[in-house]
Amino acid sequence: MANDRQFKLKTKFIGTRNVREYRQTIPTWVNAEDTVLEIGCEWGTTTVFLAPHCRKVIGTDVSSDCIERARQEHPELEFAVLDAYDVLAALDLGEHFTKIYIDMSGLSGYRSLLDLISLLTMYSTVLRPDAIVVKSGALKQFASLCVPWHGPPS
Ligand SMILES: C[S@@+](CC[C@H](N)C(=O)[O-])C[C@H]1O[C@@H](n2cnc3c(N)ncnc32)[C@H](O)[C@@H]1O
Repeated sequence: MANDRQFKLKTKFIGTRNVREYRQTIPTWVNAEDTVLEIGCEWGTTTVFLAPHCRKVIGTDVSSDCIERARQEHPELEFAVLDAYDVLAALDLGEHFTKIYIDMSGLSGYRSLLDLISLLTMYSTVLRPDAIVVKSGALKQFASLCVPWHGPPS
């Protein structure tokens, strides 16, 4: 039975439909005190947009080829190889990440919604960021259908 001592997530989840919306969130959700973990950075295009808005950003990707190219194209920025499902490796980056950006191939459609929610729950439980922005049209649509019940109108 639910009670007040039950663990509750504090992280906000922001669903965006495409890369334009994903990047559009940056001035609203990222501020100068933030340390940002970017998951699925590919060649660092969004990392470049994030960098001027925050204290620090680390762009990560499962592909070492992508990370090599990101480092060559943006030597002033920090990149690391990371498989998003290895949350302990994300912890080993040694930062207190306040915001996380996720854009992973194969994770934005309805068929992967449960996998995405598991991933979001894992990151919000272990790293406890204030917010996770994710490129997923399915999550955005799902969130738009969620309505918290506050009791009948008085
Ligand atoms: C659409 S691209 C990202 C584009 C990038 N965010 C941008 O704004 O330019 C998706 C990326 O997800 C990465 N990816 C796929 N599976 C991953 C995983 N398990 N962990 C981390 N990155 C992953 C791919 O290597 C690819 O670079």
